[in-house]
Amino acid sequence: MNSITIQPASSVKGEIVVPGDKSISHRSVMLGAIANGVTTVRGFLRGEDNMATMDAFRAMGVRIEDDGETVAIYGQGLHGLKEPADIIDCGNSGTSIRLLTGLLAGQSFFSVLTGDQYLRKRPMKRVVEPLARMGARIMGRDKGTLAPLAISGGALNAIGYESPVSSAQVKSAIMLAGLYADGETSVREPDLSRDHSERMFRLFGASLDVFKNGVKVRGGTELTGQEISVPGDISSAAFFMVAALITAGSELLIRNVGVNPTRTGIIDILRSMGGRIELQNEREVSGEPVADILVRSSQLKAIDISGSVVPRAIDEFPAICVAAACAQGRTTVRDARELRVKETDRIAAMATNLRILGVPVEECADGMDILGAERLDGGAVESFGDHRIAMSLSVASLVSRGGITICDVDCVATSFPSFFPLLEQVAGR
Ligand code: S3P
Repeated sequence: MNSITIQPASSVKGEIVVPGDKSISHRSVMLGAIANGVTTVRGFLRGEDNMATMDAFRAMGVRIEDDGETVAIYGQGLHGLKEPADIIDCGNSGTSIRLLTGLLAGQSFFSVLTGDQYLRKRPMKRVVEPLARMGARIMGRDKGTLAPLAISGGALNAIGYESPVSSAQVKSAIMLAGLYADGETSVREPDLSRDHSERMFRLFGASLDVFKNGVKVRGGTELTGQEISVPGDISSAAFFMVAALITAGSELLIRNVGVNPTRTGIIDILRSMGGRIELQNEREVSGEPVADILVRSSQLKAIDISGSVVPRAIDEFPAICVAAACAQGRTTVRDARELRVKETDRIAAMATNLRILGVPVEECADGMDILGAERLDGGAVESFGDHRIAMSLSVASLVSRGGITICDVDCVATSFPSFFPLLEQVAGR
């Protein structure tokens, strides 16, 4: 378990690009593998989570080539995947295991999915239960609610599902199963979660209708391989946005970032806090909105965060907590219970760590209150094995007294292997 110490910075400056979007990268391999023809992907994120998805499809007989620039996936068609000879290990990746569960439920073979110590604690009932209603046969630990999951794939029937949670992983698992079901499968969620699956299904020629907070997929339609260009991940850009906002004298341009409206909650929240953030050169690439993001240091003020913006910023709360810790006043977060079942319990993890840095935090079941501090104390904090907790605390280090040591930072490789060198670069070191 490696640790790292990050020193305070006098400013954050320059022009950067961040690695490709994790959600879009996962989906490009999944749909590419079950399409007809070759799919090429530029800007693919080579983090551990996405490599787990790639390895899973290789284990099911899909040829995937990577020359370092472009990933080529030789699609096998809807019914061309082969039974894997061994258990598939999804590592730390919730997106891999949940979306694969949906996809594998409709195959004519047996498969087993597992993951690391963190993933094996995360709730799987949210996908197992609706898939079982479609006729899927899935078994797992703790009455089928925890990985490893054993899937006896077979025929599926269409359902109309009202999801109790706003979760793109649940929605996408059901959509993937829906490709194999007899009839029209629909999913509706309380608030709209990220819609990358809807966009990419359409790009590949799937038969689907999108309606308010929901989607309907018609089973049996063959998909066609595509050329995909993956934009930078706004969830990775978020750490640098917060770094530039809270560090005095900063100006940072982050080029080629995905700004899909179901993901831009972070921009809305930081702007409401007084953050100076400009979108430039807005365009559309591979069915996804993209822009360059200019961020300047700003005096932040506390706000109340709740409601439909929460799923639009769900992965950014660790970074938002750091912004709140540097803002004037008490920031409140509510309706964010989902944070408790991410890679770790992110409410508890950020509360524990911010308190070590001298920031008063109160937790509640679905959120927290954070009282902004003049300056953060230095000290030693803990990632709890969660990449986004590690990266948020690294950003906090830039405005700390004397630097912060973050313990257990290997997890950063799941989504952003080049994070630390890039942070040091913009800090002028
Ligand atoms: C993701 C969906 C979100 C998000 C995760 C990626 C996806 O999870 O937190 O990092 O790619 O579909 P939930 O569906 O659990 O909200």
